[in-house]
Amino acid sequence: MTTKMILDCDTGIDDAMAIMYAALHPGIELVGVGAVWGNVDVPRATRNSLRVLELVGRDDVPVAQGAAGPLLGGHVEYAYHVHGGDGQGNAGDDAPVRPAAPTTAAQQIVELVRAHPGEVWLVPVGPLTNLAAALVLDPELPSLVAGVSVMGGAARCPGNVTPVAEANIFKDPEAAAAVFRAPWPIVMAGLDVTMGVVLTAEHRDRLARGGEAGRYLARIMQHYGEFYRDEVFGEWSCCMHDTLAVAAAAGALEVRLAPVVNVEVDTTRGPGRGQTVADLRGAYRGFPDQGGAHCTVLLDVDARIADEAVELIAAHGAAS
Ligand code: BDR
Ligand code: CA
Repeated sequence: MTTKMILDCDTGIDDAMAIMYAALHPGIELVGVGAVWGNVDVPRATRNSLRVLELVGRDDVPVAQGAAGPLLGGHVEYAYHVHGGDGQGNAGDDAPVRPAAPTTAAQQIVELVRAHPGEVWLVPVGPLTNLAAALVLDPELPSLVAGVSVMGGAARCPGNVTPVAEANIFKDPEAAAAVFRAPWPIVMAGLDVTMGVVLTAEHRDRLARGGEAGRYLARIMQHYGEFYRDEVFGEWSCCMHDTLAVAAAAGALEVRLAPVVNVEVDTTRGPGRGQTVADLRGAYRGFPDQGGAHCTVLLDVDARIADEAVELIAAHGAAS
């Protein structure tokens, strides 16, 4: 049994790794990729996604360009300081890429989900604008997907762009609120778990000894690790954020604690904007049923997923 998946990415560095992992994992059937604004502008996210798929020999996966900014308009802020001017650590290349699919990312979601009712996992790892747009196009989507696995949010740990908000949610809180409100099963792979799964210099060096895709990833993550060294951890290392949402959807992540609870996204204009407010009050009595809650919040996972992902990617195309 494989898991059909549509990844929706704002393709920077950790997104590139998530694409490689999803494209190469034997338990995943990657049926489509959507590009969204976020780390970089959306044409750049589209190009980067196409290039990364080419590197793993998956030119069969359609890439559709999506939203260029938040659902309701307004402020657009990228993260070039984190992901480099090209979104690939200033170490990407200019290799020509095939054209994007002749549709929007939201439309592609609707078409692929309708083609495989009940089977497709949506895995948004950037701002949730494309998913919210797909919900507007087809309000029946929640009953037609297998689930939604989001990289985003922070339930009981600090945010990374404000004291309480994580980047993917903060960039488009109105879209995120619509996605978290819709009655589909959601897995939230937020900073609670993604900050604890760290790629070290050893992982980078393992990738650098691998095939072409591994070497590309090792090269682009250099910049990412420098950002984490200077702004987060104090030594060269980086988080693999987006790959965790992919692995969770595919059942490839060992989950130790993940209560099903109500989650609401703060869309106010104050200091709480973009916070994922998860109702964890049941923590002291084993998280009793919250009746109607449909969001599984990952709170503790096995960090060995970092080794597994690195091994999978390094091995692709490597001389044996
Ligand atoms: C998330 O924000 C983006 O910069 C990363 O690609 C990841 O999806 C982490 O907060
Ligand atoms: Ca991302």
